[in-house]
Amino acid sequence: MDIGLRPFRPDYLDAIVEVNEAGFGHADEGRITRALHADGDSILSLVATGNIEIVGHIEFFRIRIDGAPVGVGLGPMCVLPELQQTGVGARLIRLGLKALEGAGESLVFVLGHNTYYPKFGFSEAAAKPFTSPWSGPHFMALRLAPVGPETGTLTYPKAFGG
Ligand SMILES: CC(C)(COP(=O)(O)OP(=O)(O)OC[C@H]1O[C@@H](n2cnc3c(N)ncnc32)[C@H](O)[C@@H]1OP(=O)(O)O)[C@@H](O)C(=O)NCCC(=O)NCCS
Repeated sequence: MDIGLRPFRPDYLDAIVEVNEAGFGHADEGRITRALHADGDSILSLVATGNIEIVGHIEFFRIRIDGAPVGVGLGPMCVLPELQQTGVGARLIRLGLKALEGAGESLVFVLGHNTYYPKFGFSEAAAKPFTSPWSGPHFMALRLAPVGPETGTLTYPKAFGG
């Protein structure tokens, strides 16, 4: 199957939620994705499409650092179970990071598999100077440019229950 990557469109939202439910096996991430879009907190959203359907999704949202809108969060992201481990997730992450870098973003945070995101440059060490409700071994950061805060307190969008 040829997989293409495309930017979000509002009419994709229901299919994105279904892919999240299939990928994660529960409803939380689909709900978070809907809320991020409804609240205007999504800053970049991409989908992977197969022949006729959406097969993967990645979301990037705004994180405030000491109140300033200068951080980005990655998530939710998912790929349909039958297409996992075929490189779709890696393509979504790489295109997303490239677009964010081009848009002048400098700091991306993620809470997730600490054997997966380091493949794309994320590290726990880069996240350590920042205070977050998610701090710990699965909380990682990637600096895209040598600018932006070196430390600070992160505030997540209300979609995450903050
Ligand atoms: C995690 C997920 C998004 C990865 O997407 P994917 O398309 O399956 O991953 P890719 O095929 O692009 O994998 C890229 C590399 O990461 C590895 N990898 C994939 N999933 C991994 C995982 N969960 N943990 C560690 N490594 C993983 C692959 O083996 C591959 O390694 P390689 O480059 O050495 O060959 C996908 O498996 C998924 O949707 N999982 C369920 C939902 C989920 O957990 N989302 C992320 C929450 S943090």
